Amino acid sequence: MNINGNYRKIKFAENSQIFRCPICKDEMSVYELKDMVCNQGHNFNIARKGYINFLLKAVKTDYDEDMFYSRTQVQESGFFDPLLEFISGSIIKRIEKNDLRKLNILDAGCGQGSHIGQIISNLEEKVDKDIRGFGVDISKEGIVIASKQSFDILWCVADLTNLPFASRGFDVILNILSPANYDEFHRVLKDEGILIKVVPGSAYLKELRSIFYKGTDKEEYSNEQVVKHYSKEFEIIDTSQLKYNHSIDKDELIHFIRMTPLSWKVTDDKIQRIMDIDIDNISAEFLIIMGKKKNKNMSRE
Ligand SMILES: C[S@@+](CC[C@H](N)C(=O)[O-])C[C@H]1O[C@@H](n2cnc3c(N)ncnc32)[C@H](O)[C@@H]1O
Repeated sequence: MNINGNYRKIKFAENSQIFRCPICKDEMSVYELKDMVCNQGHNFNIARKGYINFLLKAVKTDYDEDMFYSRTQVQESGFFDPLLEFISGSIIKRIEKNDLRKLNILDAGCGQGSHIGQIISNLEEKVDKDIRGFGVDISKEGIVIASKQSFDILWCVADLTNLPFASRGFDVILNILSPANYDEFHRVLKDEGILIKVVPGSAYLKELRSIFYKGTDKEEYSNEQVVKHYSKEFEIIDTSQLKYNHSIDKDELIHFIRMTPLSWKVTDDKIQRIMDIDIDNISAEFLIIMGKKKNKNMSRE
């Protein structure tokens, strides 16, 4: 199948009912396979590559093209594979219990899109469901890279604090190493849907952290506050810790440095110090939190 811009334009049209206007919250439809338009006439062009930019004004973020390039290199090195296998397995366990034919999955803060891409490929190999993936990120650079890949996913540049989706459209929301907006997640998740949030554990990239932040309060990382916040908003069904080492060669190290916000504002001198050390292993540690809507919030819009 040739998944290009034209293909995605058709898919946007077929799935337009899941969208809503980020300005007036009205329903949307696709006009002449060119624009997504709401009943009030707010118009969002479908880019040639097959993504839609729903931002109301341009946003400049520190997540730039170089960073997403390096995240892609790290992804291709297999660093995230055990995490993505674990998430895919958790989703399969969960959906085996229901008889839904169609499954809508949203990755909120998808970056350059390879996590949801790989998770959906894993699921399609193992379950017989009609799976539709949506990736949202505020960084246009990330979404442009995502849309150049062949994943059958609908990409949107959008702010996860104002998602361009109707209420209760998603069976699964992924939120991997990205900020969350629980009000919006509540709104767009189906009442029986699940939210899977991934946060780093204290050992995540510790080889970099220990040099970048030696002697500062950032040398140790704790995810305690994030878990507390999550549990206030969603009912936790399961938390799992995943810890492993990933061997790297010298050429790969620079991509681990460039892909992470940990290296923002770090001096060139410190980056050079890491490059000079013979690091041949990078630590991964993730906490995977799976939750569902709390009953009291079920009717919240
Ligand atoms: C550390 S990156 C993680 C990206 C991807 N999930 C991954 O693990 O490779 C954090 C991502 O969150 C996105 N992000 C930050 N604030 C956002 C917002 N308000 N709305 C949507 N995306 C946001 C950034 O643009 C960036 O792509």
